[in-house]
Amino acid sequence: MVLSYVYYEMKCHLLLAMIGAFAVMVVAQKQEGFISLDCGFPIEESPYSDPSTGLTFTSDSTFIQTGKSARIEKQLNQNFRKPYLTLRYFPEGKRNCYSLNVNRGTNYLISLTFIYGNYDDLNVYPNFDLYLGPDKWRRIDMEGRSNGTKEEIIHIPRKNSLDICLVRTGTTSPIISAIELRPLRNDTYVTHSGSLRRSFRVYLSNSEREVRFADDMYDRIWTPFFSSRFTQITTNLNINTSDTFEVPKAALSSAATPRNASAPFIISWKPIPSDAEVYLYLHFAEIQTLQANETREFDIIMKGVFNQSGITPPKLERLTVFSAVPLQCDLDGCRLELVRTPKSTLPPLINALEAYTIIEFPQLETNSSDVVAIKNIKATYRLSKISWQGDPCLPQELSWENLGCSYANISTPPRIISLNLSASGLTGSISPILQNLAHIQELDLSNNSLTGSVPKFLANIKSLSLM
Ligand SMILES: *[C@@H]1O[C@H](CO)[C@@H](O)[C@H](O)[C@H]1NC(C)=O
Ligand SMILES: *[C@@H]1O[C@H](CO)[C@@H](O)[C@H](O)[C@H]1NC(C)=O
Ligand SMILES: *[C@@H]1O[C@H](CO)[C@@H](O)[C@H](O)[C@H]1NC(C)=O
Ligand SMILES: *[C@@H]1O[C@H](CO)[C@@H](O)[C@H](O)[C@H]1NC(C)=O
Ligand SMILES: *[C@@H]1O[C@H](CO)[C@@H](O)[C@H](O)[C@H]1NC(C)=O
Ligand SMILES: *[C@@H]1O[C@H](CO)[C@@H](O)[C@H](O)[C@H]1NC(C)=O
Ligand SMILES: *[C@@H]1O[C@H](CO)[C@@H](O)[C@H](O)[C@H]1NC(C)=O
Repeated sequence: MVLSYVYYEMKCHLLLAMIGAFAVMVVAQKQEGFISLDCGFPIEESPYSDPSTGLTFTSDSTFIQTGKSARIEKQLNQNFRKPYLTLRYFPEGKRNCYSLNVNRGTNYLISLTFIYGNYDDLNVYPNFDLYLGPDKWRRIDMEGRSNGTKEEIIHIPRKNSLDICLVRTGTTSPIISAIELRPLRNDTYVTHSGSLRRSFRVYLSNSEREVRFADDMYDRIWTPFFSSRFTQITTNLNINTSDTFEVPKAALSSAATPRNASAPFIISWKPIPSDAEVYLYLHFAEIQTLQANETREFDIIMKGVFNQSGITPPKLERLTVFSAVPLQCDLDGCRLELVRTPKSTLPPLINALEAYTIIEFPQLETNSSDVVAIKNIKATYRLSKISWQGDPCLPQELSWENLGCSYANISTPPRIISLNLSASGLTGSISPILQNLAHIQELDLSNNSLTGSVPKFLANIKSLSLM
């Protein structure tokens, strides 16, 4: 198999399931902890059940205050699933953020979908930056991506709220079609540091069917992948897939072996960036009925970085082999080989595999009591400042207007030290919530219609300019 063959195939297959409606049985499956937002969808018609997956989608409008709703071009409707027909675009402001409620410390699969669909009739594909809280996640360049693009990570939030921000970088307005969060088990997809960005998740099958919820209780999307160099094996028998990874039966009940039974099974791809650290999860199950004199045994080899010898997939039961430490492929890319051992009478077999690269989100967000305080102030005085979204102090170049922060180092959360609400149309009394900004040094409340006396607490604030 030629180098990066898989990678290109992967791109083509990426949004395959959006094209053509696959009839799925809509069963009453739990969607516990799932967040499924259809961006730009009218709140009056929300929630609804996505006919192709049975997933319950809601409008995004209570998770963001800015942006406008639009629909993709009508003649493209048939190409996409319902949640991708509307979108939210952001003609105003540099940074626009969703603020989601999550459970701190839980491992989440976070998937974002972007489909331009010529919603503005301009036929100009947008490009912009995506941020997770204060950290840059990825540049989204939609040029030529008429089928849209997806971005997926497995990430453990450090707080009970998670900001997903779209940042304008040029003349085009950022867009987003859907936001999906799925809680995973905390004992799977564990990294030494950082989060996992999906390179691909495939099952070896020559079908066209994408496997996801409700086949996969965690709604991981398994894309079919096959090549003319493979031979397919399938089974109708039940496969025991219980325990930890819970790879869906639908993704395990087919497998590939090399067409040339004495040659190794090879898959190669190029991680992005090429020096990224890689985590690999290989899922095996023996789904062929073996005769008494038949054996299947092989070694798993990744040139110079990973060796696992004498693998025999258990009969109708899942075996997952993964790298406990991140792997670093060489500059030519990653090359996974399954090599038949001399005693094996059968070629190697593989049912499904997942590859991820490490992505770091290192910045500590602004001190959380400062964040709570400033959000309360924003709500109390009904301040509608477009830049007041996401983290107040970070990244520094996108920090909120009329607000100053102190920055020590990357491992110390920034503090809010000044606030200028001059001429901000404030009315009513001076609220005691202002004192919750514990490190404030400068506060300007001039040129507003505030009434009542100046509260005592303000006297304690150093170098205060109060007019
Ligand atoms: C979009 O998907 C269709 C159907 O799978 C495919 O024929 C087409 O090449 C894809 N377009 C791009 C730009 O990938
Ligand atoms: C399935 O596998 C699990 C873990 O290996 C085991 O405990 C369980 O008994 C198996 N179930 C069946 C029906 O074989
Ligand atoms: C099959 O693979 C073996 C070992 O790699 C090789 O020697 C042989 O030439 C291959 N046969 C064909 C028909 O490609
Ligand atoms: C296994 O046994 C069957 C008959 O029982 C025979 O046809 C076959 O060639 C044997 N296979 C091997 C690899 O010895
Ligand atoms: C893997 O095994 C090969 C020989 O089978 C050996 O040369 C190589 O050093 C091993 N690599 C690792 C990372 O263990
Ligand atoms: C606050 O902003 C106003 C104008 O926006 C400016 O005139 C004033 O000097 C600022 N206050 C401080 C303390 O910098
Ligand atoms: C107070 O704000 C008004 C508009 O809100 C502006 O016209 C005026 O110049 C401001 N005065 C001062 C002293 O900043």
